[in-house]
Amino acid sequence: MAINQTNWTKSSWKNFTALQQPSWPDQDSVENVLSNLSLLPPLVFAGEIRSLKQLLAKAVTGDAFLLQGGDCSENFSQVTAPNIRETLKILLQMSVVLTYAGEKPVIKVGRIAGQFAKPRSADTETKDGVTLHSYRGDMVNQAEFTEAARTPNPKFMLKGYNMAASTLNLLRAFTRGGFGSLQRVQAWNQEFVANSPMGRSYDRMAKQIDQAIRFMETIGISADAPQINQTQLFTSHEALLLQYEEALTRKDSITGDWYDCSAHMLWIGERTRQANGAHVEFLRGVHNPIGIKIGPTYELSDVKKLITTLNPENEAGRITIISRLGSKKIEKVLPPLLREIKREGFNVVWSCDPMHANTYTATSGHKTRNFNDILSEITCFFETHWSEGTVPGGVHFEMTGNNVTECTGGAHNIIDEELASNYLTSCDPRLNAEQSLEVAFQIADMIRS
Ligand code: PEP
Ligand code: CO
Repeated sequence: MAINQTNWTKSSWKNFTALQQPSWPDQDSVENVLSNLSLLPPLVFAGEIRSLKQLLAKAVTGDAFLLQGGDCSENFSQVTAPNIRETLKILLQMSVVLTYAGEKPVIKVGRIAGQFAKPRSADTETKDGVTLHSYRGDMVNQAEFTEAARTPNPKFMLKGYNMAASTLNLLRAFTRGGFGSLQRVQAWNQEFVANSPMGRSYDRMAKQIDQAIRFMETIGISADAPQINQTQLFTSHEALLLQYEEALTRKDSITGDWYDCSAHMLWIGERTRQANGAHVEFLRGVHNPIGIKIGPTYELSDVKKLITTLNPENEAGRITIISRLGSKKIEKVLPPLLREIKREGFNVVWSCDPMHANTYTATSGHKTRNFNDILSEITCFFETHWSEGTVPGGVHFEMTGNNVTECTGGAHNIIDEELASNYLTSCDPRLNAEQSLEVAFQIADMIRS
């Protein structure tokens, strides 16, 4: 068995310190919700989780590339068919750019269908002398600054499960039912992107793909194959709310192994990755692929401890290290990490999150990120891997298919003063559709070389 289950149960995390958990006002109501959740069907199946792990094993060796992205924090009010479709469309567009221009099979993982809980830097927030609970994501409380809205409500966990289920249902319909077909590559281009330089590059590429498919058909190869007319999108979120994750953890009837069936892949955040903490204890016993966020102040000994605790048998595909180091620090702090992990012979997927250490407050007061910083962290990530002889295996973005103005820069050069015009995120700033496509073209150039 590749996972260490000595003294592990799905509730053994309760014997350890769990940071970033809500203080629910009423325990009876929490127990009631959790026992309901534990009887509900799993959201994903163990077999799918195993296929994702096998695909990720290919990203360890550079034979596939991981594209993970979506909202910083999903909102219940935004779980609508158009929003789900737009997120899927931009992920499909980015992925086809990476596959066609970058010549690599792409593993698509959404920050979607369950990304409803957020870690916060403080437990409370004070405005005009009033102190309330911090907003911890829609699965815990509401963002509005009133006592009622900020009081944690365990029923939101049940609502989160239902929202995740309906999101997944539509995603499965879209990806299996023809929407994700390579014959529709052109249709994924959005009107507001189509006339931009990125939209035009995309359109040219889409025409070439169309031609290639028509050529195949002309010579008698059917385009009816699932590789062409179906696609697969896996789901992921931060495994933060341990009570919820425990309630969705089930024993697979085929293998007898435990899986957290709330999503295919789970990651452990920069703030909750203590080797002796409850989040690591919980994740060590489930068989899902696990992402570990690593920020610039990491200790090498902690990172190694985390990897050996979570992956004692060094199974490829189990661990993805998601580095989020910042464009200014990456050059200095990534090389020692790569060297040590390589020296130890640990099998990991190396993924770059160029978002979380590049956040700043704009002159307009908005929390933002600049496109050049994002691109510069990614470029440095690739260059460092090339010089260290390690494999840059993936990227991790906060992004949306909508035409938001949350990150500055990009081909349209959004400036600070323009951020207010369509700033919609309830947490961190996301790349909009055009910026996402632009970054995908840049990465494609890097993964091909
Ligand atoms: C996140 O991915 O939304 C997040 C909070 O990241 P990190 O743990 O890396 O800060
Ligand atoms: Co975020």
